[in-house]
Parts: sequence; C-alpha cells; structure tokens
Amino acid sequence: MPEKTNRNTPLLDIRNLSRHFGGLKAVDGVSFQVNEGEIVGLIGPNGAGKTTLFNLISGFLKPTAGEIYFRGLPIHGKRPNAIARLGVGRTFQIVKPFGELSVRDNVLAGMGHNIYPSLQAFLHVYHTPTAIARANDILENVGLAAYADARADTLPIGLQRRLEIARALALSPILLLLDESAAGLTHQEAEDLAALIRDLRDRGITILLVEHNMRFAMNLCERIVVLNQGRILAEGTPEEIQTNPAVIEAYLGHSGVVRREA
Ligand SMILES: Nc1ncnc2c1ncn2[C@@H]1O[C@H](COP(=O)(O)OP(=O)(O)OP(=O)(O)O)[C@@H](O)[C@H]1O
Ligand SMILES: [Mg+2]
Repeated sequence: MPEKTNRNTPLLDIRNLSRHFGGLKAVDGVSFQVNEGEIVGLIGPNGAGKTTLFNLISGFLKPTAGEIYFRGLPIHGKRPNAIARLGVGRTFQIVKPFGELSVRDNVLAGMGHNIYPSLQAFLHVYHTPTAIARANDILENVGLAAYADARADTLPIGLQRRLEIARALALSPILLLLDESAAGLTHQEAEDLAALIRDLRDRGITILLVEHNMRFAMNLCERIVVLNQGRILAEGTPEEIQTNPAVIEAYLGHSGVVRREA
C-alpha cells in the first residue's frame, strides 16, 4: 500500500490547466485542489469542460498547458494506465461495460486487462479464487452481488452506472472521479447512490464528481467547483454556490432553465 499523503499536500492539485481543441478553449486556465477525504462536486452547464477536465486528470487527453499533481507527483502527460495505477479511478459519462460478459467478469476486467494481449487472455489468467473473491467483495460493496452472473448489458442504466463504479474500484483507487453517475436515476436510486458514495468516502476514497442533478450534488458534496466555458466561475460550499449571482446567471442566463442531457 502507498504511504499516506502528507497532510499539507492536496491529494489533487490542478494548476493553470488548459486544453484547447483548435480555437475552442474547452478547459482554460483552471486551478483548484481536492483534499484527502473530501467529496467535491464539479458542476457547470453543458459544454463547460467538465468531462474534458476528467479526461485530462485521468490521462485520456494531454493538456495544452498547465500541470496536474496527484499526492505531490506530476501526472500530466502520463498514460491512463499509469495514472490508474497511481490510484486515480474514474467512471465514464457514457457507460462502457463489456456487455456480453457477466457483471463479475466486468469487475475482473477492471483489474487490469489492458496489460494483457486480449481480454480473453486476461480473464483466463485472472479467474483465480483470490481475484474472484475480490470481485465479489466489490460487487457486495456497490450492491450488485445479486447480479454477479448476469450479462452486463441486461442491467438497467442505474445498475450499469454502479457497475462502472465497481470496475473503477477494481484498481483500489485513492481518488475516484465520477462523471454523472446519477444521470437518469429516479429520486430513490439517486439517494441510494449518494449513500454508496458517502460509504466509499468513509472507507478512505476521496471523491470528485461531475453532476447535473443539482439536488444530488448540493446534498452530497462538501465543496463545489463551478466551471463555465472552460473557466472556474465559483468555488465554495453548496450554500455559497446556490446564492452566487454569477452561478445563477450562468445557469439561467440563456434559456431560463438548467439544460440537461438528453
Ligand atoms: N475531442 C474533442 N474534440 C473537439 N472538441 C471537443 C472534444 N471534446 C470536447 N470538446 C468540446 O469541448 C467543450 C467541452 O466539452 P466537455 O465534454 O468537456 O463538456 P461537459 O462540461 O462535460 O459537458 P456535458 O455537461 O454536456 O457533459 C465542448 O464544446 C465540446 O464540444
Ligand atoms: Mg460531460
């Protein structure tokens, strides 16, 4: 196990980070920190740059400029595998399970199939009693134990989002990035998910989550960072954010409603 992060070092330290696509500044000079043990929300209108920021942190995109430090170590420019192994887990806004595989095998695949020549080769090697027991534990933790043998593509969307979290947990992350895990959930499902996220935090995992569901984000997060057009518009407690005039303008200024994904 890696040693604990120094108390004074933020777990995640994003410094002046930018990512441009041609002339579009998707992320434009963003700086903020996440401390160990926090649940931090990243909110902002559609196209604000939230997923791009996650792609930069997890190494799926390289920054145009700026730096990212995880536990004091520079991770900008590292490959996704390397960043995942350092302890940064993530889910995807568009869920990508291996649909034809069982729920359990999806979690086993999350333990690192990309270092093997094929997923089949990996699963062949990885069907050890220890790995299977670990996958079962993870499924128990996220409330999917009853579905372990079901094909992943037979799960309803709410459970597929839990499976995304289970796959991310397979590499024992220290920091977990959740991209719209509550999208499409009923009120009760969202409440259950919030309880799961709090439970993960209580087990020592720091959480940074992107969310469009305001009630969900405001109830769950201790701190909120608001992105708008690639830049940080505001940062503060949920109470501060909800009464911030610039935030209200960004959300209500154009169409009068908070836009949601289809
Ligand atoms: N690979 C890419 N190539 C070109 N433009 C991109 C690419 N990825 C994202 N963008 C653009 O960057 C901007 C930010 O996109 P991003 O997906 O980060 O927004 P978001 O805040 O996650 O939005 P949403 O709430 O809709 O998920 C958008 O204008 C998007 O079209
Ligand atoms: Mg997004």
